[in-house]
Amino acid sequence: MNVNGASVPALSLQRVRKVYAMGDSEVVALDDVDLEVAPGEIVALVGPSGSGKTTLCSIAGAILSPTSGRVVVAGTDISGFNPKQLTAVRRDLVGFVFQSVNLVPFLTARENLLVVDEIGKRTGAPARARADQLLGELGLADRAKNLPAQLSGGQRQRVAIGRALMNDPKLVLFDEPTSALDSKLGMAVMELIQQEMKARGTAAIVVTHDERITRFCDRSVHMDDGRITKS
Ligand SMILES: Nc1ncnc2c1ncn2[C@@H]1O[C@H](COP(=O)(O)OP(=O)(O)O)[C@@H](O)[C@H]1O
Ligand SMILES: [Mg+2]
Repeated sequence: MNVNGASVPALSLQRVRKVYAMGDSEVVALDDVDLEVAPGEIVALVGPSGSGKTTLCSIAGAILSPTSGRVVVAGTDISGFNPKQLTAVRRDLVGFVFQSVNLVPFLTARENLLVVDEIGKRTGAPARARADQLLGELGLADRAKNLPAQLSGGQRQRVAIGRALMNDPKLVLFDEPTSALDSKLGMAVMELIQQEMKARGTAAIVVTHDERITRFCDRSVHMDDGRITKS
């Protein structure tokens, strides 16, 4: 299913529709969305609250299934995948960084990276080496043994970035990664995201309300009311 060659998009969404059932009514969160992200490309996803950005990331990241349409991640069509297959996609192909960071509070920075190891493709010593390498690259070598509560907001977000990169994903989904940070720190984290993605040739979607962040991205895609309005 995986096709070789750099020309295979990191993500291809084709006429993707997502309808949430809300009691008797329905919410159309994604309304026939088409989007292609090239390998190594960083796309900013901009739009008002409720426009469907998180839903799009969740579907691209195999957390949610679309109501209809095709979802192809790094050459693998995941549209008809069962939950077990979707778990494998989350483990092998994609990484997530959420606004709320979601670190495990009772694990150290290093252990938060190694959590991925339990389900991931590396185990034991190679996983520990990978975690230490990433912590070093992210400027956290001397914070490896700290608990999340002992880290600043920016440091926590860097741990979350490291965790998302543990398994060398083809695509990383950043859902408002800087919204909980002050603007200076937000820009620094964005610069780091840009550097890390470009150094690895990893594609990314970065959801943001902040137009200043789009300059760290290769292009911007705008959403409104479940549709892509301009690219
Ligand atoms: N689990 C859900 N059940 C019902 N409606 C939802 C659910 N998640 C999101 N929605 C609705 O879908 C629309 C898009 O939401 P979302 O993707 O979270 O937008 P954004 O991330 O741009 O704020 C909104 O109208 C929201 O209320
Ligand atoms: Mg959202």
